[in-house]
Amino acid sequence: MTIYDIILTGDFMEVIINSLDHQGRGIGRINNKVIFIPNTIPGEKVEVKIIKEKKKYMEGIVTKYLEKDKDRIENLCQYYPKCGGCQLLHIPYQQQLLYKEDKVKNIFKRYNLENVKINSIIGSPSKYHYRNKVTFHVSNQHLGYYQENSNKFIKIDSCLLLCENINKNFKNILPNNGKLIIRSNNHEITYEQNKKIMHTIVDYKFLVSIDSFYQINDYITPLLYNKVKEYLNPTKQDTVLDLYCGTGTIGIFISKEVNNVIGIEINEQAIEDAKENAKLNNIKNITLICGDAGLEAKKLKIKPTSIIVDPPRAGLNKEAIETIIKFNPNKIIYVSCDPMTLVRDLNILKKYYNIIEVTPFDMFPNTYHVECVCLLSLR
Ligand SMILES: C[S@@+](CC[C@H](N)C(=O)[O-])C[C@H]1O[C@@H](n2cnc3c(N)ncnc32)[C@H](O)[C@@H]1O
Repeated sequence: MTIYDIILTGDFMEVIINSLDHQGRGIGRINNKVIFIPNTIPGEKVEVKIIKEKKKYMEGIVTKYLEKDKDRIENLCQYYPKCGGCQLLHIPYQQQLLYKEDKVKNIFKRYNLENVKINSIIGSPSKYHYRNKVTFHVSNQHLGYYQENSNKFIKIDSCLLLCENINKNFKNILPNNGKLIIRSNNHEITYEQNKKIMHTIVDYKFLVSIDSFYQINDYITPLLYNKVKEYLNPTKQDTVLDLYCGTGTIGIFISKEVNNVIGIEINEQAIEDAKENAKLNNIKNITLICGDAGLEAKKLKIKPTSIIVDPPRAGLNKEAIETIIKFNPNKIIYVSCDPMTLVRDLNILKKYYNIIEVTPFDMFPNTYHVECVCLLSLR
């Protein structure tokens, strides 16, 4: 029987899971062809139904667990894995951390950065209820998520990733159809354009508008920012460029220990928040500029001694990389939420910079995402 007969007849196959791919799906083999199966753990034996067949790989779903991992976590969430928000909820947290650390190591190895030191991953102090922001879809006045890669609406009554304050209060909101973004701290929530939420990171306060970027996990953000500061090793002689500065958080966090900071951010609302945050924290040595990171940095008349970059998943664009290299700073601290674009950019920067080390952070427990902070030093 060929693989095509199996699909046509809807037959089920037995598969042993060998490892996890970068999206947290189990990898197995049928007749030597790779199959990706969500909601599985390496070592498990499952019965699968093939739902997609491509030339080089297949995708399947579990129809029965024949041999389960003894530590598998079950029945925590009625929406998992349908809603697509989590991919690793079934995996014990220590195993999730090892998976993410290995993932970073594998990506660095695969893309010619095998000699870079990757530190142990820093886990999140809270593995559930860590998200301070959510984007809900609205259908007939109900809030919910769309199933992964589809527009099938799943009504949600509470979510294991959302902070308790959002879970407690979101059902009182009567939304219009479309999307609804909710932000929260410990005691208030907002979904309105003109109301900002106050967050605290160590001794600093940050007001954040609904459409501005703010780190999603309040529990791990101070650890991540402290790592940035440790890598920066700031001195009073430093001029630091904070590219992709959002609401000014990192720049303000390090400002007292350096001569001055220049923050650049494309989102107008976020840069307005950043200016307000500088005032709120009584920080006078920070200049905040709205515009594209690379283009605005190019216009600067002063030369930074260090550059911090924290771009979106797409990583650094051409102008940003060119401008950074031209500035020739002593240090670059690269905060990345996608190790694939991180290694792409590091492979350009490594001609000019030694990649000293990388520390992964679990900003997004129970999902396949991983954040990294990387230190580069001028050759
Ligand atoms: C991952 S966030 C980092 C924000 C900030 N460093 C923090 O820790 O909160 C990336 C930020 O880059 C901004 N951004 C995206 N593209 C940009 C560009 N081309 N130039 C400048 N900023 C950009 C986004 O609006 C977002 O605020």
